[in-house]
Amino acid sequence: MLRSAILGVGHYVPTKVVTNDDLSKLMPTSDEWIQQRTGIKERRFIEADGIGASDLAVPAAKMAVERAGRSLGDVDMIIFATLSPDVFFPGSGCLLGQKLGLPGVPALDVRNQCSGFLYSLSIADAWVRTGAYKNVLVVGAEVHSTGIELNARGRDVAVLFGDGAGAALVGPSPGETRGVLSMALHADGVGAKDLWIKAPASMSSPHRITAEMLERGEQYPQMNGKQVFRWATEKMPEVAREVLAAAELTVGDVDLFVPHQANMRINQMVAQKLGIPADRVVHNIERYGNTTAATIPIGLSEAWAEGKLGEGKVVLSAAFGSGYTWGGAVIRF
Ligand SMILES: CC(C)(COP(=O)(O)OP(=O)(O)OC[C@H]1O[C@@H](n2cnc3c(N)ncnc32)[C@H](O)[C@@H]1OP(=O)(O)O)[C@@H](O)C(=O)NCCC(=O)NCCS
Repeated sequence: MLRSAILGVGHYVPTKVVTNDDLSKLMPTSDEWIQQRTGIKERRFIEADGIGASDLAVPAAKMAVERAGRSLGDVDMIIFATLSPDVFFPGSGCLLGQKLGLPGVPALDVRNQCSGFLYSLSIADAWVRTGAYKNVLVVGAEVHSTGIELNARGRDVAVLFGDGAGAALVGPSPGETRGVLSMALHADGVGAKDLWIKAPASMSSPHRITAEMLERGEQYPQMNGKQVFRWATEKMPEVAREVLAAAELTVGDVDLFVPHQANMRINQMVAQKLGIPADRVVHNIERYGNTTAATIPIGLSEAWAEGKLGEGKVVLSAAFGSGYTWGGAVIRF
C-alpha cells in the first residue's frame, strides 16, 4: 500500500503583536505571571474586524503548496481543523476553497480543538494511502481574539490564546522511506467540561443563545486549568510512546519533537518524561501563545524554514486538548 507524506508546510500569523503588558492594561494580570506559568510573551491578534480563520489559512495554504512544488490546482481535497470557524456554518473549508479558487474540490471541517491537526492528518493519510485523494490540503487555523474575554473574569483563559494558521500538503510519498510512519488518536468525553464553550448550543431551548447566557459569559471558553494540565502531561507522553512503538522507533531516533503549544511547562514536562533533549523540542508559544489547531503546522513550517526538516529527519508530534482529545504521529521527511 502507498504511504502518505507531508510534501510541504506553510503558515501565517496576523501582524498585530499583543504583549503580556498590553493584556495587563485590560485585566489584572502581569508579564511575570503569564511567563512563569505558560512561557508566553506575546501573541498575534487579527488587525481588523471581518477577518476569519479561512482568511488566515489562505497564505498558509499557498505557502504549503508552493513548498511542496505543487500548484493550487493539484489540491483535490481540503481538511480544515478549527474551533473558531468563520461562521457557525458552513464550514471554513468551503470558504477556504472558494478563496483559493478551487470550485468543486471537496472540503471537510474537523472540530477537534488542539488535536484537530493530527486528527486531520490521520484522515488525509488514510485517504492518500487508499488512493481516494492525491493532494490533500490539511489546514489548522484559528481566530481566538474575537472569542476570549479580555477582562478580569476571562483572564485565566484570555492570556493563553492567539490567532494564526498553519497548513500541510499531504500526498503520496515520493520516496521509499519518507512519510507518515504511524499515528494514534484518542478521545475521552469525561473531560468535556474541563475546557469548553457552552454557547451557542443546540441543546439550549428555545434559543441557542440568550441575553442571559451572554450576560453569564457562556460564549467564552471555560477551563479547569489544573485538570487539563494533569491530563496533558500524562496523555502526551503516553501517545508519543504509542506511536514510536508502532513505527518501531525509539526516542533516540527522534530528530525533532513538534508538540502542540498549549503551555511551555506542559511541553518541558512531556519532553522530560520522554527523555528528549530540549534542543530537539520545537517551541514558539513564547511568540504566538496557543493557536490550537494551528500550533503543530506552524511549528513544522518554522522548522522547515530553518532547514530542520531535511531528508530523513524523523519528527515526533503529540497533542492534547478539549474533548478530551489527544493524538500522536511519527513522520519521516
Ligand atoms: C492556566 C494555568 C497556566 C494556570 O496555572 P496554575 O499553576 O494552575 O495557576 P495557579 O494555581 O498558580 O494560580 C491560580 C491563581 O491565579 C489567578 N489567575 C488566573 N489567571 C490569571 C492571570 N491571567 N493573571 C494573574 N492571575 C491569574 C487565579 O485567579 C488564581 O488565583 P487564586 O489563587 O487567588 O484563586 C495552568 O493551569 C495551565 O496551563 N493549564 C493548562 C491549560 C491549557 O493548556 N489549556 C489549553 C489546553 S490545550
